[in-house]
Amino acid sequence: MAITLSVIKADIGGFVGHTSCHPDVLEVTGRVLKDALESGLLKDYDLRTCGDDMYLVMLHTKGTDNSEIHQLAWDAFSRGTEKAKELKLYGAGQDLLSDAFSGNVKGMGPGVAEMEFEPRKSDPVIVFMADKTSPGAWNYPLYKMFADPFNTAGLVIDPSMHEGFIFEVLDIYENKTVEFSAPEEIYDMLVFIGAMEHYIIKSIRRKKDRDIAAVTSTQKLNFIAGKYVGKDDPVMIVRAQSGFPAVGEVLEPFTFPHIVAGWMRGSHYGPLMPVSFKDATPSRFDGPPRVAAAGYQVTEEKLIGPRDMFDDPGFDHARQMANEIADYFRRLGSFEPHRLPLGEMEYTTMPQVLKKLENRFRESS
Ligand code: 13P
Ligand code: 13P
Ligand code: MG
Ligand code: MG
Repeated sequence: MAITLSVIKADIGGFVGHTSCHPDVLEVTGRVLKDALESGLLKDYDLRTCGDDMYLVMLHTKGTDNSEIHQLAWDAFSRGTEKAKELKLYGAGQDLLSDAFSGNVKGMGPGVAEMEFEPRKSDPVIVFMADKTSPGAWNYPLYKMFADPFNTAGLVIDPSMHEGFIFEVLDIYENKTVEFSAPEEIYDMLVFIGAMEHYIIKSIRRKKDRDIAAVTSTQKLNFIAGKYVGKDDPVMIVRAQSGFPAVGEVLEPFTFPHIVAGWMRGSHYGPLMPVSFKDATPSRFDGPPRVAAAGYQVTEEKLIGPRDMFDDPGFDHARQMANEIADYFRRLGSFEPHRLPLGEMEYTTMPQVLKKLENRFRESS
């Protein structure tokens, strides 16, 4: 029987500032999920946080884009928002952009990653949850996991994945997708996915049977809202082992804290630091950007877990490197490449400053 794993996430209020979620809000949101478990709508669920973002991990059999499941998430976030407003948390209801729910939370603020699959005899799944960055942050690690044999030994030595994977890439400006077949088309693909604020890997399938391997949330809040309403703080689901990369191959790309857009005011580049859930509290200059990873053994009935996958000394060096890179970037202050290019900043005073100075600009001789 096919099962669906839906992760729907939102920032409905930060405690303190944008650094984490408040336990009372989690309790209220969790109660809505518990009711859905008892009514049988959900088979199982887990509620996690990374920074000020709350992630609803839901196991069910309703398929993707199901209106009951999306309604449930919307209700859970709405109830949590009431509590967040009562506590005057920061940016209460930040990601709920509409007052009226219309069947699907896509386009309404929350981020969504969902996959439907026939569970294997044993199905290890890792849900990556990020704060202070955008969905483009997943391009680099996904490329490493599913297309780079120096990361994933299985691409070379495991007959069940040796044929490679199909990458579905979204152009977020045009809202069009294109598929690339790896390894044959990796040079073409890298032209696009290297521009990670424009072309975002949306899903990955195993070539030999098109079984789903990975999905990401691709919502860009700033496009949805037409104005700055916070960074997208994305989620990614990856299946591991037996024809997919091993768990260690899925985690390995995060030993390199690559540079992502986000951090302070959603307007700075900085390193993505892999952390345990306990340390998913970005406070230094509202960062550096964080990623936490929840591992589950997924069955027809239950999410066995989670295991806190980055709670491992094997990632200490990545964290130390991320801190060193953070120090380096911070010393650049308002200068690029710490600050994002003008077109990509979520906050800017440029229009006002330009207006103030418009009479002082002279033709250059
Ligand atoms: P085991 O032999 O322990 O199952 O490990 C296989 C594997 O995929 C390790 O990466
Ligand atoms: P969030 O997108 O996580 O709410 O952060 C916004 C921000 O401005 C951080 O400085
Ligand atoms: Mg926030
Ligand atoms: Mg956030």
